[in-house]
Amino acid sequence: MAKARSKYVCRECGHTSLAWAGQCPGCAEWNTLEEVVEQATSKGLHARGGGRKAPASKPVPLRDVEAPHEVRLTTGIGELDRVLGGGLVPGSLVLLGGSPGIGKSTITAMALGNLAGAGRDVLYVTGEESAAQVRMRAERLGADALAVPTLAETDLGVVAATIEAERPAVCVVDSVQTMNSDELTSAAGSVAQVRQVAGTLMEVAKRSGTALVLVGHVTKEGAVAGPRVLEHLVDCVLLFEGERERSYRTLRALKNRFGATSETGVFEMRSGGLVEVEDPSARFVGEATAAAGSVVLCAMEGTRPLLVEVQALVAPTEVVPPRRVANGIDRNRLAMILAVLARHGGVQVGSADVFVNVAGGVRVDEPGADLAIALAVASAHRGESLADAEGRPLACFGEVGLTGELRYVAHAERRVAEALKFGLGPVVGPRIQEAPGGLDMHGTLRRALAGSRRARPDGRQFAAAA
Ligand code: TYD
Ligand code: MG
Repeated sequence: MAKARSKYVCRECGHTSLAWAGQCPGCAEWNTLEEVVEQATSKGLHARGGGRKAPASKPVPLRDVEAPHEVRLTTGIGELDRVLGGGLVPGSLVLLGGSPGIGKSTITAMALGNLAGAGRDVLYVTGEESAAQVRMRAERLGADALAVPTLAETDLGVVAATIEAERPAVCVVDSVQTMNSDELTSAAGSVAQVRQVAGTLMEVAKRSGTALVLVGHVTKEGAVAGPRVLEHLVDCVLLFEGERERSYRTLRALKNRFGATSETGVFEMRSGGLVEVEDPSARFVGEATAAAGSVVLCAMEGTRPLLVEVQALVAPTEVVPPRRVANGIDRNRLAMILAVLARHGGVQVGSADVFVNVAGGVRVDEPGADLAIALAVASAHRGESLADAEGRPLACFGEVGLTGELRYVAHAERRVAEALKFGLGPVVGPRIQEAPGGLDMHGTLRRALAGSRRARPDGRQFAAAA
């Protein structure tokens, strides 16, 4: 009855085609089509034409649909619960992505430890590390983490059967790429395997009411677990980011069926596991320097304002073309800002190396960071500090347009309020009250640089708040 059939699925966009091609017809990427062997069964959903005629069903108004009053399972890690929208939803499927070494196993082990300590049934499935290795990590995390029942297994069938038998409230599978279904011939981690693993585990988890957390690696392009197909399947996609060498980590939701996607949690990796940083702004402002090339950016991390230090270094180059190094910001954004600075700001760094760094290993991917980058580079280029007489760094935010104008960005009031809360200000940024476009790059730079060290620029002229 079952007949094996091959098709080809794009690793990047999930496009399916019946024949192999060097270039994906869906996204035009090269060498991304992978063979997938599918068992075609006669009772497939896709049976069309001559198949059995399905009976019609009766649609129900939503108010008559029974919705269980969901009880959230709190993980005991405040920042994680907040990003999840109040804790894990029973029976839901969460995908936790992040690059290797970022702390995915650590945060899941801590969460399971807390849940076990609170008397919940949990299960940790490890396909990546041996049980002994997991134990060594748990020893650093404390007694609760050592109480977590652990299964070292990569066989999907065994894992599914164990979840069904144990019926844990929360189960972590670390990682989805190491699980292997013997129904498929392709290797573990391939599109087909990852899809099969997620699909099978989801079914089992929904049946036993288990909240399932799948840990997944992020490809170098940044897609969680490679194939995008997985992102559609799960209820919630969390991304754990940061630079491995630095201690700060941010956790954000890319998708959340049960909460906002704008929440971000900040953690610090310490010797005893991850510690929540409840007031990251205070931390970053405290560490900010008053030297030339340093400004404080009033960024937004989801719905939360966050002050981070942006540093720049402009140095004579020894290579052609000169280096443009961006840490924590987008490289293309830096290139654009350097061009705007040269064209509209009178700051020519064409023949110098430019390094821009967001301190603490934080990533800011928002246009509101433009002005901070521009001011940091201009200040570094001139060797003039933008700090005021008391040595407080200059706080700023705003998008820079290609024609050199300063553009309005969302949550201006909240950004300013955060800066004032930490004793910074006046804040340089687009005006809140008036129509955007009132101030250009040249004027902003001139004022900011003129106001350096001694007198602060006139607050009302171009600061977002007095
Ligand atoms: P890990 O959770 O294994 O990362 P992932 O599962 O995402 O690959 O751990 C990441 C790093 O954190 C590892 O290099 C060791 C370090 N670490 C600490 O610094 N402190 C700790 O308490 C633990 C458990 C790990
Ligand atoms: Mg791991």
